Amino acid sequence: MYGIVNNAVEDLVTTKFGKSRWLKIKDRAEMAGEVFVTMRPYPDELTYRLVAAASEELAMSPDEVLFAFGEHWIQYASGQGYGELVALAGDDIESVIRHLNDLHRRVSLSFPDIRMPFFHVTDSRPGYFRLHYRSEREGLSSFVAGLVSGLGTMFDTAIRCELILGRQHGHDHDEFDVHHEPNSA
Ligand code: HEM
Repeated sequence: MYGIVNNAVEDLVTTKFGKSRWLKIKDRAEMAGEVFVTMRPYPDELTYRLVAAASEELAMSPDEVLFAFGEHWIQYASGQGYGELVALAGDDIESVIRHLNDLHRRVSLSFPDIRMPFFHVTDSRPGYFRLHYRSEREGLSSFVAGLVSGLGTMFDTAIRCELILGRQHGHDHDEFDVHHEPNSA
């Protein structure tokens, strides 16, 4: 994944746990000297290794790390100048999610080798929608749940995002039940 993703993991760890924990995590992941360039693509394996090392160092499960990372991502990407893109995507959580494919298409102007995820929404009614997530990557469903929760924070909306059907159950993509405060703006 692009360096911006690994830099966001660094930002999450240093903000919440301090610089020295981040250095220990990099050591554990055998990446002590590595500096990630935001706009450069890196093998996915490096990101997965950082998540595994963070999980060991912080005594959290890999899914907890991915969830926290998802929650942090919105704030981090906004700080990197992409806040406007999210704001333009919609005025509430469901609109933003409905425009995520467009958002990533726009992002691909800056990140041409992006292998973007795909999202779509079904069963929309007040306070609820079903979120479908497709990716060529494995194991990121907790990241998605964290992202949705982070969008909830951005819109000051209480969110419950639950994986109900996933690739780990033999399904071809992940499906989440998303409950949110109706009429949130
Ligand atoms: C703030 C604006 C955003 C920017 C600039 C952005 C950019 C990116 C970039 C650069 C990647 C790395 C992909 C690669 O290297 O191939 C990525 C991955 C991803 N993004 Fe976004 N993104 C944004 C918002 C979101 C939001 C709001 C969501 C979901 C709610 C989301 C879901 C994902 C997921 C799940 C991945 C992992 C890739 C995969 O599943 O294969 N992104 N994004």
